[in-house]
Amino acid sequence: KNVPSGFPRGFLWGGATAANQVEGAWNIAGKGISTAEVVKRSTNRKDFTMNQITKQSLTAAINDSSTTTYPKRRGVDFYHHYKEDIKLFAEMGFKAYRLSIAWTRIFPNGDEAEPNEQGLLFYDHAFETCCKYGIEPVVTISHYEMPLGLTLKNNGWAARETINEYTKFTKVLFERYRGIVKYWLTFNEINAAVWGFNGTGALDDDLPNDQKMQLRYQALHHQFIASALAVLQCHKLDPEAKIGCMLARMQTYAKTPAPLDVRAAQLQDQLNLFFTDVQVRGEYPNYMNRYFYDNGIELKFAADDEEILAKGKVDYLSFSYYMSTVTADDNNITKATGNFALGEANPYLTSSEWGWQIDPVGLRIALNELWDRYQIPLFIVENGLGAVDELTPDRKIHDDYRIDYLRKHIIQMKEAIQDGVELIGYTTWGPIDLISASTSEMAKRYGFIYVDQDDEGRGSLTRIRKDSFYWFKKVIASNGREV
Ligand code: BG6
Repeated sequence: KNVPSGFPRGFLWGGATAANQVEGAWNIAGKGISTAEVVKRSTNRKDFTMNQITKQSLTAAINDSSTTTYPKRRGVDFYHHYKEDIKLFAEMGFKAYRLSIAWTRIFPNGDEAEPNEQGLLFYDHAFETCCKYGIEPVVTISHYEMPLGLTLKNNGWAARETINEYTKFTKVLFERYRGIVKYWLTFNEINAAVWGFNGTGALDDDLPNDQKMQLRYQALHHQFIASALAVLQCHKLDPEAKIGCMLARMQTYAKTPAPLDVRAAQLQDQLNLFFTDVQVRGEYPNYMNRYFYDNGIELKFAADDEEILAKGKVDYLSFSYYMSTVTADDNNITKATGNFALGEANPYLTSSEWGWQIDPVGLRIALNELWDRYQIPLFIVENGLGAVDELTPDRKIHDDYRIDYLRKHIIQMKEAIQDGVELIGYTTWGPIDLISASTSEMAKRYGFIYVDQDDEGRGSLTRIRKDSFYWFKKVIASNGREV
C-alpha cells in the first residue's frame, strides 16, 4: 500500500467555539441562565485552575446581573455578529465550523416540556449561514454548561433524572437538524466531569475528597449513559449523521526510565483514556475496577446500563490537544510551575504564557496511540495557542508566535497521516477571540480574528483580521501543503 502524500481530499479544516464563550445575549429571547454564567472571572492569571463555584458563591451570582464579573454572559456577542463572523470564517476557506448549542436557549430551565422556539431559530439561522458558504457545522451538544435549573433541582449530573432531560433535548436537536448537521459531539471534554462543576454542573465543594470523587464518577456515569442514548437516538433519527465523543487528550511521558515512573505514567494515561475506552469500546475497562476499589468508589449501574453502553458506541473520536505532561512516581515528584500542566515540567519543551507546555510531536504520538487503540476516525476539534496580542497603532496584529505554534502542529498531523492514522479534520480552538473557559479572561486570545474587547468588557467589539488569518487561509487553500 502507498503512504499517503498528505491531507486527504475533503479534510475538514476549520475552527471551534463554545456557545458560552462567544454568544453573549445571556438573558434574551427566552434564554435561561446556564452553569457557565455563574462562574467568575479570575483576576490572577498565574494562578490557573479551572474556576469553580461554591454553594455560597452561587447565591451571590444568581442575585448579581454583572457581565463584567461573569464574562461568559457577554461572550463576544456572536449572537448578534454571527453573520459577520461566519462570513469571515468563509473568507479563510473554512470547510467546517464547530459550535455548541446553549442548552438554556432551547430548554431555559432544563425541565420544560416544550422547547423554546426562539432559541431554536437562532441556530436555524447560524446553520443556514454556514450552509450558504459550504461550511459543515460540527455541533457539540453540551460544552461545559447546562441549565442552572438542573443544578438547583438535580445537582446537575449527580442525579440520574438528568439523563431524561438531556435525551429530551437531543431528540429536539436530531429531529430539527436532520440532514443539516452531519457531525455531532455529545459532550465537550467529557473527562472534565472528574474536574468538578464545569463538567458535572454539580455542587460538591463542601464534600470531603473521597465523597467528591464518588459524586463525580457517578455523575460521569450518567453522562456516559446519556451520551450512549444520544448515539442510539441519532442513528435512528438521522442515519446519515455521525456522532462522536470528545476527550481532552493529555499525552503524558514518564519522567525517567525508572520502571516506577513508567508505571505511574501508564496509569496516568489509562485514567485519561478511560473515557474513550467506555465510549468507543462500549464498556468500562478492567483497570478502572482496580482504581475504583483502591479509591473507595462504588458506582450505581441501572439494570440496562451495560447494554446501553455496549450499543451506544460512537462513530468517531474527537479530541482537544494543547500540551503534554510529565508523570513521575510519587517519590520522584517536582511540580511544574505551569498551571493546566498537572504534573512535571518537561525540560525539553517551552511553555505558553499560561504555562501550557508546547509539544507538537506529542500530537503525532497522541494520534498514533489513539488510532492504534481504537481504529476509528479521529478528529482534532481543538488546538491552539492562548496568548496576549498587541494591536498596533495601524490596527494590525502580528501574531507570528501563533502561526509558529499551529504550523508545527499541522506538520506533525501530516506525519501522523503518513503513519497511517485516519484523521478527518482539524478545527483550531477559538478562530475568533473569545472568553477563556478556565479563567474567563478576554486577554487570553486564540483567534485568527481579533475582537476589540478587554477583560472588563470594554471595547467596540470590532473584528480585525490578524496575520494568522491570511496564513491559515493559505494553509486551507493548499490543503495543508503550504504551511
Ligand atoms: C478546552 C475547552 O479545554 O480548552 C475550551 O474545551 C477552552 O472550552 C479551551 O476554551 C482553552 O482553554 P482556556 O482556558 O484557555 O479557554
